[in-house]
Amino acid sequence: MQNNSQSRATLGGKLSAVLVAAGSSVGLGNIWRFPYVAGDNGGGAFLIIYILCVILLGLPLMLSEFSIGRATRLNAVGAFRSLNRRWSFLGYNGILAAFLILGFYFVVAGWTAEYLVHSITGDLAQLSSPEEYKSVFDNFITNPWRPILYTALFVLATHIIIALGVQKGIERSAKLLMPLLFLILIILSIHSLLMSGGTEGLKFFFTPDFSKVTPSTVLVALGQAFFSLSIGLGTMVTYASYFKPDTNLYNTALNVTILDTSVAILAGVMIFPAVFSVGIEPSSGPSLVFITLPSIFNGLPLSMVWSTIFFLLLVIAALTSTISLHEVITAYLHEEWHVSRKTAAWLTTLSTMVLASFASLSLGVWNEMKICGLSLFDALDYLTANIMLPVGGMFTCFFAGWKLDQQVLKAQITNNGAIKFRIYKLFRVLLRYFCPIVLLLVFLDNLGLF
Ligand code: TRP
Repeated sequence: MQNNSQSRATLGGKLSAVLVAAGSSVGLGNIWRFPYVAGDNGGGAFLIIYILCVILLGLPLMLSEFSIGRATRLNAVGAFRSLNRRWSFLGYNGILAAFLILGFYFVVAGWTAEYLVHSITGDLAQLSSPEEYKSVFDNFITNPWRPILYTALFVLATHIIIALGVQKGIERSAKLLMPLLFLILIILSIHSLLMSGGTEGLKFFFTPDFSKVTPSTVLVALGQAFFSLSIGLGTMVTYASYFKPDTNLYNTALNVTILDTSVAILAGVMIFPAVFSVGIEPSSGPSLVFITLPSIFNGLPLSMVWSTIFFLLLVIAALTSTISLHEVITAYLHEEWHVSRKTAAWLTTLSTMVLASFASLSLGVWNEMKICGLSLFDALDYLTANIMLPVGGMFTCFFAGWKLDQQVLKAQITNNGAIKFRIYKLFRVLLRYFCPIVLLLVFLDNLGLF
């Protein structure tokens, strides 16, 4: 096994591991994707399946990724390869998935930046009906150059932080911003709950109606859980390669999972009462959050201030996530292609920018071009969240459960015996049997094989 611990960055304090990993997990996946996917899939029943996926599949998988990363202290491809040559394909699947995710993620991140600017200028506060919010949003995303401009700004900001390095860039930004995001979400949720008719939305979000559950609901919940937790493509392998030897991996995974899931649920509590209060369709898709939020702000005194703070935090949450995706590719190029970190960062930045521009145009001037009936934007989202992440997750479970030396896994989780891990047996069973089997069944079912 290659040991390059001397030249590699490590994160500083104890809290840093949690905050940095949470910075990756908490992002547009929680606040933009989760509410619209939950809305599309019936609400309450989806929430229950989602939470089960997080606990039973997400948590063991995150812990495995952490262990693999810290054991090898390498990028995603190098990590799998150094443990078992034949499994480096898992790393490559991850690098490709990170690239494809950035292709649409940067576009949505650009939208949040545009909304931030409109909040500051007060334009957003001048609108008053859901129809107006919708038409402004549609006009914006179909415009050929404006969203690309904001996407470029966003890509550049990501690039700068990556260029600053792991500690100064990644660690510092996460530590400051995560707590702030939490606070504002709580305030906005309370406000949303108090809107007239808001309880209908809560009912939709919390009352399970299992008649709406189909095999695809389970796959979508699973994909959303992996997407939101940033697992299945080696992000957590890469990040854990910077963790300190005494970081408690299980506690870190548990805390990140709890934080990430609370933010998603809070986002639901914030969005759905408002959706029902102003009469927006909960199944409006990717535009849901962008047409609902302005109506939440408009009911508040000083609406401009609220929406500015909120979009600022959303931009930041998105940024700590794009950084992690960017870092996966940058670390790989830097370590495997033997180019400088700077060159690696530029290669990642430029290639993802090109893909993101195409994805943005696919919603407007190029909307005639479809891939299997989907725009490039939607195809990237579908392919990564519903196929590549669950497949990556399935093989990672299989690898950690069956191929990886048990002692390596145990040594990582217990820090060489320094800490107790009482549920190791349960963890093993989940990893070896439960997770791979469930993932396989969900897939086969979706392919129509039952
Ligand atoms: N989890 C992030 C979000 O919810 C997105 C993200 C960052 C991600 N890194 C990832 C998704 C790795 C999948 C895999 O917004």
